[in-house]
Amino acid sequence: MTYFRRHRRLRKHPGLRAMLQENQLRIQDLIYPIFVKEEGEGATEILSMPGIYQHTLDSLEEEIKEVLRLGIPAVLLFGIPAEKDALGSQAYASDGIIQQAIPVIKALAPDLLVTTDTCLCEYTDHGHCGCLDHAGYVLNDESLELHKKAAIAQARAGADIIAPSSAMDGFVHVIRQGLDEAGFPLVPIMSYAIKYSSAFYGPFRDAADSAPSFGDRKTYQMPVANRREAMRELASDIDEGADFVMVKPALAYMDIIRDVRERTDLPIVTYNVSGEFSMIKAASQNAWIDEESIVMESLLGMKRAGADLIITYFAKDVARWLSATES
Ligand code: PBG
Repeated sequence: MTYFRRHRRLRKHPGLRAMLQENQLRIQDLIYPIFVKEEGEGATEILSMPGIYQHTLDSLEEEIKEVLRLGIPAVLLFGIPAEKDALGSQAYASDGIIQQAIPVIKALAPDLLVTTDTCLCEYTDHGHCGCLDHAGYVLNDESLELHKKAAIAQARAGADIIAPSSAMDGFVHVIRQGLDEAGFPLVPIMSYAIKYSSAFYGPFRDAADSAPSFGDRKTYQMPVANRREAMRELASDIDEGADFVMVKPALAYMDIIRDVRERTDLPIVTYNVSGEFSMIKAASQNAWIDEESIVMESLLGMKRAGADLIITYFAKDVARWLSATES
């Protein structure tokens, strides 16, 4: 008789299937992004991201309490300032919205890890991630000085983790130096090391009010077709002292997550971005797909690809689903 393998032997019993599960998604893997707006009152739902809000300092409290209740270990903050200018000065003003929000969060939840996105696009009147020359080109080294100031302001306000996302060359190096000199040698940098110039950020730009007023981000974010170039971005951020490396977006870039896993022992974070969230939400609201199964499968796929941590707008839902299966 011809011999063949019975793979189904190990799939018959649900208990055995559970024992043999190779990758797990845990609540501890999740980072929940939160938008904080300086102007207005209460929370405003983002049209293209159902269930996600632009908070104000007063509506933040409920959100933070829920995050705590669900056991989510970390949040990632984005600020939407009342005033924007060419140099994004509210990103590094000592009373900028994020610098105000951090102590509010820390008072409610001293152990919740507060990660801050360090970038200028929400703070500049032109919507680019740095400052510009006369022709509208985003200046690298001049922008780095502003990012460094923003990172220090965030650390002074109590941020636990700094997450620079501007995609400027040398941002980890300059921010590391700045943090060290300002007395924050133990504040880690979660670098958006590999950040593609992606259409999947569309809904975020509504949420954070950060769409560029002209042009695009292609002179600084990575071309979507390139894989070797991602490894060069990775290498420089590792050299510069990144403590975590991020791959962003996630779903269309699982090959890159795997490449990174094979090249570094640093913790890998992936960002399940706004467009990935909105696609699943829209389809599930139409009952075309089952939201819970699709989300869990997608996030487990990111873990299988090699991610340690996942930044996701689904974090609260996932935490609920995971606790329900445990109890
Ligand atoms: C800031 C930043 C962006 C995102 C995270 N940080 C937008 C961009 O680069 O245009 C996108 C996140 C998302 O789409 O959920 N530079």
